[in-house]
Amino acid sequence: MLHIASLVTPTTLSEKAVNDISGALVLLLADVFALYLKTKNFHWHMSGPHFRDYHLMLDDQGEQVFAMTDAIAERARKIGGTTLRSIGQISRVQRIVDNDAEYVKPLDMIAELRDDNALLTQNMRNVHFPNARILLSNCQFGPAGTFYR
Ligand SMILES: [Fe+2]
Repeated sequence: MLHIASLVTPTTLSEKAVNDISGALVLLLADVFALYLKTKNFHWHMSGPHFRDYHLMLDDQGEQVFAMTDAIAERARKIGGTTLRSIGQISRVQRIVDNDAEYVKPLDMIAELRDDNALLTQNMRNVHFPNARILLSNCQFGPAGTFYR
């Protein structure tokens, strides 16, 4: 009990808002990790005449996807929530579906990642819009439209 209390972060958000927002961020973070690993999977298993271009492009994309993870996790912690703790937790909640196929054609890889990125974008919007209202309702506005929490 004492250890759990050590994770408490002071916040003006209600307990429900913290749980709703951090819960949505956990799902989003699981999706980002699933997309990261699939992107690296396809980077590692690319084949065909465009190997070099696709291989390098997916490496760049993988880095950009991975770069999102820390900000999402720490946003949940900053508002007083918790975040992912394990690969097992990711596998239980991810909405981006794994691809464990022995072989995937290069253009099928690209198409699948296009669809997964579109889903991730939609999931990000679904987290952002309802929760932006909650967060803004807890902000105090200062001069010239500036605000602080
Ligand atoms: Fe590599």
